[in-house]
Amino acid sequence: MKNIQISPSILSADFSKLGSEIKRLEEGGADMIHVDVMDGHFVPNLTIGPPVIKALRNQSSLKFDVHLMISPVHKYIDAYANAGADIITIHPEATENLEDSIKKIKELNKKVGVSLNPETKIDVIKNFLDKVDLVLIMSVNPGFGGQKFMPEVLTKIKDLKKIQKDKNLNFDIEIDGGINFDNCKIAIEAGANILVSGTTVFKSNNGDIKKNINLLKSK
Ligand code: DX5
Ligand code: ZN
Repeated sequence: MKNIQISPSILSADFSKLGSEIKRLEEGGADMIHVDVMDGHFVPNLTIGPPVIKALRNQSSLKFDVHLMISPVHKYIDAYANAGADIITIHPEATENLEDSIKKIKELNKKVGVSLNPETKIDVIKNFLDKVDLVLIMSVNPGFGGQKFMPEVLTKIKDLKKIQKDKNLNFDIEIDGGINFDNCKIAIEAGANILVSGTTVFKSNNGDIKKNINLLKSK
């Protein structure tokens, strides 16, 4: 049984002081930092890119769990690896050749993740599950923090967990979008072992990050 990890999304952080916000996450007990990269093309929002990640890299020793919501993604993988990403997660719809993109991330000695939008079926990635370190299940349509959790994706997590067991694979199952104190337990019970959370970690309990992370973990 894998330990439950919390990967707070800096999308909900104060963008005028991202360096100190990342320090607050580390002090608050985050297991890694979820960095939402958006290009205004793959998703209808635009956030940060390699220069900002490079600038933040020395602010924390925590792993940067970089979620690339960009398309095309293949030609930018080097830039995110060089900027300091530790985990690089891509969407299958954003690359012409998923196998090549997975290979490229591994050649750069980074952990590789693939992300499924709520409407994307596991079939799209089933032939790659033995090649990835992480599967990121979106429980919102990507693009914005603070959206409502979509419980229907829990079935997908359960199906993924079963495949993982049947094939004796060891990838992490990360869930991302609308995670809060009321639904984190059912997400874990379904099989997720990494919880992404932006709004709940940064905004609940008057922004008491340590308390919010502990509450998510303790459910
Ligand atoms: C949405 C991002 C999520 C989001 C999570 O496209 O991928 O990581 O920021 O934020 P909350 O926890 O506020 O839904
Ligand atoms: Zn994300």
